[in-house]
Amino acid sequence: MKNKLMEKIQNKEVRVGVVGLGYVGLPLAVEKAKAGFKTIGFDVQSEKVDLVNSGHNYIGDVIDDDLKALVDEGMLSATTDFSFIKDVDFIAICVPTPLDQHQQPDISYVKNSTIEISKYLTKDTMVVLESTTYPGTTEELIKPLLEGGSGLKCGEDFYLGFSPERVDPGNAVYKTKNTPKVVGAIGKDATEVIAAMYRTVLDSDIHEVSSPAIAEMEKILENTYRNINIGLINELAILCHKMDINLWEVVDAAKTKPYGFQAFYPGPGLGGHCIPLDPYYLSWKAREYGFHTSMIESSMMINDKMPEYCVERAGKILNRFKKSLYGSKVLVLGVAYKQDIDDYRESPALRVIDELEEEGANVEYFDPYIPSYRENGKVKEGIQEINPDIIASYDIIVVTAAHTNIDYDMVQQNAKAIFDTKNVMKNIGNRDNIEVL
Ligand SMILES: NC(=O)c1ccc[n+]([C@@H]2O[C@H](COP(=O)([O-])OP(=O)(O)OC[C@H]3O[C@@H](n4cnc5c(N)ncnc54)[C@H](O)[C@@H]3O)[C@@H](O)[C@H]2O)c1
Repeated sequence: MKNKLMEKIQNKEVRVGVVGLGYVGLPLAVEKAKAGFKTIGFDVQSEKVDLVNSGHNYIGDVIDDDLKALVDEGMLSATTDFSFIKDVDFIAICVPTPLDQHQQPDISYVKNSTIEISKYLTKDTMVVLESTTYPGTTEELIKPLLEGGSGLKCGEDFYLGFSPERVDPGNAVYKTKNTPKVVGAIGKDATEVIAAMYRTVLDSDIHEVSSPAIAEMEKILENTYRNINIGLINELAILCHKMDINLWEVVDAAKTKPYGFQAFYPGPGLGGHCIPLDPYYLSWKAREYGFHTSMIESSMMINDKMPEYCVERAGKILNRFKKSLYGSKVLVLGVAYKQDIDDYRESPALRVIDELEEEGANVEYFDPYIPSYRENGKVKEGIQEINPDIIASYDIIVVTAAHTNIDYDMVQQNAKAIFDTKNVMKNIGNRDNIEVL
């Protein structure tokens, strides 16, 4: 099987299937197709499938013309019909791995997609899970499901591995194509073949590790590292405010050290599909071993409190104007979970808005990338523009995303008060009406 697949990779005869056409899957499908591999995307959402098949892009990191050209050339197509799995030799699974309402891993998307794949899996296929998950998922969950559903044997009839996705939406330098990738598969041959496949597609280092569990754990380490460091810096932000020390200046000073320090910044909380969720996959798995991941818990306690803390701070600023949050007009600037993207999943800004509304504030928001958002079945419409009169009509502006396409000079010149949780106005000279987190 190894030689046969290696030859197919070299001759670009491998047909690729990408399961889950979201923020991770669509860019990956486009890269595979661009590299000369005929690619089929699989998704349960027929709207996404229709968009792809009509050459319409819906993911910020994908270039519209690239997608259209690949579809027109017949290199990329999409379907909801999993029976086409029988036609592919390489399958990348990129489905969501969220938490349930009790903050426990919801592995159902991985499970359901694997069951569908297993029904149509054929011999000599490579299967790679890319979704972030707890160490053990590939060997303990995917392998038996694939073997059971297909009657095929892992290592003999198909290869199985894990290769974590590292896409950083909105990153202008590092995209799917040039970000180094880690590959860990079941068996040496599987690792070699799967790594060879990625090497043919990507312009980056492909780092092979000795098992899927190593690759699964390294991905959680990356995200837990960020989560914990952000927790540390958020805690210091609360302390520094009490001590009347500007933490942003402290971090800028600390990062002049050329080694041993990496800068992290405070904010209104964690957002996105990864950093706030993935460490809980590890905490959950750790309990199977009677182990408590205390660093993760401590950091989560701090990070989860940040939206509430920011609302408290906004209330204190209003207090200085003899105003209460109750009945005040508040404009929240930016609801994306990070700057210059249109993704608001897990965004702390939404929690800031909810908390403000609970305190009786009249809250509106402006986000150039997100005209409206849906949360708990309810849609909130943003205001469609900001100008001096609009800014002046609010009691306080709370900045919750550091979008770069907002005229912050205009905001500063017209706002009564500003609470800047992202220090996005750091270069503005007149700071009379600005308070930072
Ligand atoms: N978004 C990121 O920045 C990022 C970065 C690194 C890793 N990841 C990880 O990658 C995985 C995917 O994340 P995403 O952001 O692309 O999610 P997403 O929600 O944008 O996309 C997932 C897609 O999978 C589809 N899907 C769900 N169930 C399916 C099924 N049974 N069969 C086929 N398709 C199905 C959904 O319809 C959706 O289109 C997650 O594990 C995430 O943690 C995400």
